[in-house]
Amino acid sequence: MFSFANLSIPVIQAPMAGGITTPALVSEVSNTGGLGSFGFAYSSPETIDHDLKLAQSLTQGPINANFFLFPKVELPDSKTIERAIEPLHELASDIDFIVPKPPFYPDLEMQLEPIWQLRPAVLSFHFGIPPEWVVQRARALNIAIGITATSLEEAQKIAQSGANFIVAQGIEAGGHRGIFESDAVDEMLSTFDLLHQLLRHCTIPAVAAGGIMDGRDIRKAMDLGASAVQMGSAFLCCPESGASSEYKALLLAENPRPSIFTKGFSGRWARGVENTFTRHMEGKLTLAFPIQNTLTGTLRQAAARSHNAEHQSLWAGAAFHKARTLKVCELMKALQIELES
Ligand SMILES: Cc1cc2nc3c(=O)[nH]c(=O)nc-3n(C[C@H](O)[C@H](O)[C@H](O)COP(=O)(O)O)c2cc1C
Repeated sequence: MFSFANLSIPVIQAPMAGGITTPALVSEVSNTGGLGSFGFAYSSPETIDHDLKLAQSLTQGPINANFFLFPKVELPDSKTIERAIEPLHELASDIDFIVPKPPFYPDLEMQLEPIWQLRPAVLSFHFGIPPEWVVQRARALNIAIGITATSLEEAQKIAQSGANFIVAQGIEAGGHRGIFESDAVDEMLSTFDLLHQLLRHCTIPAVAAGGIMDGRDIRKAMDLGASAVQMGSAFLCCPESGASSEYKALLLAENPRPSIFTKGFSGRWARGVENTFTRHMEGKLTLAFPIQNTLTGTLRQAAARSHNAEHQSLWAGAAFHKARTLKVCELMKALQIELES
């Protein structure tokens, strides 16, 4: 069974859906003593099978496969859809925005089929607690389960679910806010405030996520009592990361832009680098997650093809400007040295 004690460096490379967590990135993190994670939220069972097999052929170390728990969702009336398409057309009049059709998200049961076959060490979830049969099946196969919490209340539910650890996601974190209910009041706790609360009140291990960029940040989390840290932004600029060159260029810019929260891309709050899209979508109507995500897909894909960072989602945490361009093995080594010094 997976144990944090077996990691030679207490680092989980964060799952990052959308092609960033390549088999090369994930396997290299695991090869260098951390836990490499795949962001499989939007992936087909075939891709999951392929990428996991490939990573397993490249490392003997532990691997984490991460999924979203998509909420049930329905299309609103056509007037509302038209209102949501309007601001997108203002940005790209040449794109024909297609109204998404159900099913609006992948079937979790089918996505998990390759997981039960290939048995990665860890299975983790974002946006809530998986159904009980998933927890039981994972337990029977010796697969550890981790779940994101953004508040003590969510963490306590996770602790009761039979999960093995909690990922304490602070407000500094890049990517989607893992809050269970998208319209619930968000306490917006910092990573260390949330971690502190969890360590006082929860009995299962807690992992700190959000704004952890170097060995000193890792040391601080470990000294507080975290079992590990989960780092996303720190890995975005590694050559093994699947982030595009224009995405990396903005992260590494001499005068970095701020990272801000937007609902514009997906319909749920997520933190990323400010660009033309996020500014234009401020205060605009968006459809529910993940319908909005599918709706904006054509725009984002066209932007990716033309290397236009202004219309892409550039998820990144509040401290992204500390990201380094090192290879994974060099970054892991640097983190280890900083942690020990
Ligand atoms: C580009 C990007 C994509 C992300 N995608 C996911 C995801 O698919 N699943 C998930 O659980 N967390 C995801 N996250 C959130 C991370 O798990 C983690 O909370 C975050 O990276 C920590 O903050 P940091 O970026 O400051 O290190 C993503 C983060 C980033 C930066």
